[in-house]
Amino acid sequence: MKFFTLLQLCVSVILMCAVVNVASRYPKGHLEPLGQHQPAIGSVATIDVGKLGSLEFYRQYVRTNTPVLIKGALEGTTPVMEWTDQYLASKFGSEKVNVDNSKHEDRLKQSTEMQLRKFLSLYSTSKTKYLISTLTKNMQKEFQLPPALICEGFTSRLQDYVMWFSGGRTRSKLHYDNVENMYCQLGGTKEWFIVDPKDAKKHIVLDHKEGAFTGVDVTSVDMEKYPGMKDLPWRSAVLTRGDCLYMPLNWWHQVTSPPSRNLAINIWWAPILKEADDFLCSNHSKTAMLSDFEFNYGEWIRYNLGSFLNEQNNSVNFTTMHKNIVHEHTGEHVISETNFNLLDVNRDGLVDISELIALPAQTVHMATNYAEIGALNTNGASRTGDPGSEDDGQDED
Ligand SMILES: *[C@@H]1O[C@H](CO)[C@@H](O)[C@H](O)[C@H]1NC(C)=O
Ligand SMILES: *[C@@H]1O[C@H](CO)[C@@H](O)[C@H](O)[C@H]1NC(C)=O
Ligand SMILES: *[C@@H]1O[C@H](CO)[C@@H](O)[C@H](O)[C@H]1NC(C)=O
Repeated sequence: MKFFTLLQLCVSVILMCAVVNVASRYPKGHLEPLGQHQPAIGSVATIDVGKLGSLEFYRQYVRTNTPVLIKGALEGTTPVMEWTDQYLASKFGSEKVNVDNSKHEDRLKQSTEMQLRKFLSLYSTSKTKYLISTLTKNMQKEFQLPPALICEGFTSRLQDYVMWFSGGRTRSKLHYDNVENMYCQLGGTKEWFIVDPKDAKKHIVLDHKEGAFTGVDVTSVDMEKYPGMKDLPWRSAVLTRGDCLYMPLNWWHQVTSPPSRNLAINIWWAPILKEADDFLCSNHSKTAMLSDFEFNYGEWIRYNLGSFLNEQNNSVNFTTMHKNIVHEHTGEHVISETNFNLLDVNRDGLVDISELIALPAQTVHMATNYAEIGALNTNGASRTGDPGSEDDGQDED
């Protein structure tokens, strides 16, 4: 009996040592989903929609690059809140939409075009189908611009409105966008893992420069491969029906949805160069529908070329521009000599920030061979030759 107890004790000590050993070798959260390493340092600022005018929104949040969750932003303001599946089928059933074949973000995979009616019939039981598609003009007529965005400063810079629709269990990569984002939830819940760009610099490895994401597997974070992740500070935001989240450019984020119908629409607009800070907001009390505005891609290009010029001390020659300005998908070096001359208005062989700011948005767009939103890199990187992301696109269980 005594011997047996001693043996038990020995076994326990060995087991304890083993546990301690494992615990010290691997940081907390190793091979676990993103966010298990430590609790959020807090949630993003949350305000009630009634308390936020568009000029205040611009001054307090956009200009300071601060995320904010606008609670109830869509309550009672827009027909889009009544978008049940039945209504969508009857009103927009024959509209064409793009549907991804994976719920795990993989921008390299081809999406499938289908009628909305077909998507509605299959999404709730599908493990892979995820509608990610620009709102059609008819749909735009039913979505009132969130009040915080009703200023010419925003509406002259609109880039895209995208619908995100699935039966849940979606998961994005950990990434950032170089465009301003207002993300509005119409049904279901989206959970956001959010990282300040200042913290990201120290902790996150940007090993996919071309798509602005990190290769970290967000369902199983490898702390040996990505050691900076073990003490990455993060904020949370949980969006429910009627909420909109302002996600400033360059803030890293990863978005997950639980199982159940999930419908969101986001609005992308071009950031504003600090040198061109003439933000207009004269008629901010009016209401407007999304369909009242056209997208203006030249403004996004202007911002990106301007940021590049800033990095290069505000003036750049042809060689440097040609080398670094690359189409993300085709790898084309879009700044030909002809295009350079469109930007170099005074023909001194250099493009500088004042030339860029004075040009019409249309000319700026033309100078990049009309690159689409998001498809231009200013760091010389493209996805050509990329064998594929590490995510194989398999659905989680
Ligand atoms: C603001 O007013 C101007 C002039 O009336 C108009 O062209 C513009 O579209 C308006 N913008 C918004 C956001 O309503
Ligand atoms: C810009 O200027 C700074 C300070 O003069 C200098 O250190 C840096 O190398 C310059 N960058 C480029 C790209 O010329
Ligand atoms: C263009 O600018 C780069 C960076 O400032 C410089 O190294 C290069 O010599 C310049 N090329 C020409 C042709 O002036």
